[in-house]
Amino acid sequence: MAEKIIILGVETSCDETSAAVVADGHEILSNIISSQIPVHRKFGGVVPEIASRKHVELISSVIAEAMEKAGVAYSDLTAVAVTYGPGLVGALLVGVSSAKALAYTLNLPLIGVNHIESHIYANFLANPKLEFPVVCLVVSGGHTDLVFLESHGNYRLLGRTRDDAAGEAFDKVARAMGLGYPGGPLVDKLSVEGNPEEISFPRVLLESDTLDFSFSGLKSSALNYLNKARMKGEEVPQADLAASFQQAVVDVLVHKALAAAKKCNVKTVILAGGVASNSGLRRELSKRALEEGITIGYPPPVLCTDNAAMVACAGYYKFLRGDTAPLTLNAVASLKLGQEKY
Ligand code: KG4
Ligand code: ZN
Repeated sequence: MAEKIIILGVETSCDETSAAVVADGHEILSNIISSQIPVHRKFGGVVPEIASRKHVELISSVIAEAMEKAGVAYSDLTAVAVTYGPGLVGALLVGVSSAKALAYTLNLPLIGVNHIESHIYANFLANPKLEFPVVCLVVSGGHTDLVFLESHGNYRLLGRTRDDAAGEAFDKVARAMGLGYPGGPLVDKLSVEGNPEEISFPRVLLESDTLDFSFSGLKSSALNYLNKARMKGEEVPQADLAASFQQAVVDVLVHKALAAAKKCNVKTVILAGGVASNSGLRRELSKRALEEGITIGYPPPVLCTDNAAMVACAGYYKFLRGDTAPLTLNAVASLKLGQEKY
């Protein structure tokens, strides 16, 4: 039997310190995620300096735990893959330095992975039989991108947000509503009890030909609604507000994702990133895609938010292509998809 390709993945781009061991690109032997959410919650968002310090404190034990849980020895590893951008530069540097140190001491190939690419590859982790071409809607706290994938590593950006990312809009509205951080899952949960048609919110760029998004107008509209109600001393219908806001985000995301599939003549649409866990998005996309004969896919929630198994998976396909990085690899805060240069 051919030997397995075993990759150690490392992810520290934002507020999750994560390490994972994945065999042959899909067999998750371990996926340790140490979330800093409780630390950042009191600030209502991620504080970059604190995130970097926490990563430094945690990274060695998280990697050790991932190796132990996987039951593999360092000598069993084939390569080390690490997120080197985009993200918070101080946070990224912790993962990159650790991965470089391991690759150097163990004499293993180093693989630099783009964070967006790794979110996309969570789909291959969940479904290694996924076939190209596909359109992927990447929706996270930092990004809202529509990407066309023709083959492994072959990306074309079709559209992106011109202002706020979808997750960012969820988080800011949730914060103003007093729901807490991160807001996306809380709005999602609350919206189940609300009426999505109760409050009319704008669907920006919905009818326009562009595959770009814009969520700042919607966010402001929700914040204005809240302020007006509070100024008048009226009780805010929290569940209706959550449901109506979420529906406005979902309508635009679904419409554009299906328009992108049509434009590229693609029959499969996949979701990636933290917001891909949103129940309304999954439900609406499933319904509309069925009507249009499009197949959809999305990873389980634990693989949608930041985790190192997706990094190891993306690293596996890069390793197969011989796409390894030199030990001079550096963190690149604004790294663009498909434009990686070491
Ligand atoms: O991908 P991710 O873990 O980190 C980034 O790369 O940004 O995404 C985090 C984002 C946060 O904005 C969070 O509120 C959002 O994903 N999120 C959700 C849901 N779960 C996480 N947004 C809406 N509905 C959810 N169920
Ligand atoms: Zn992410």
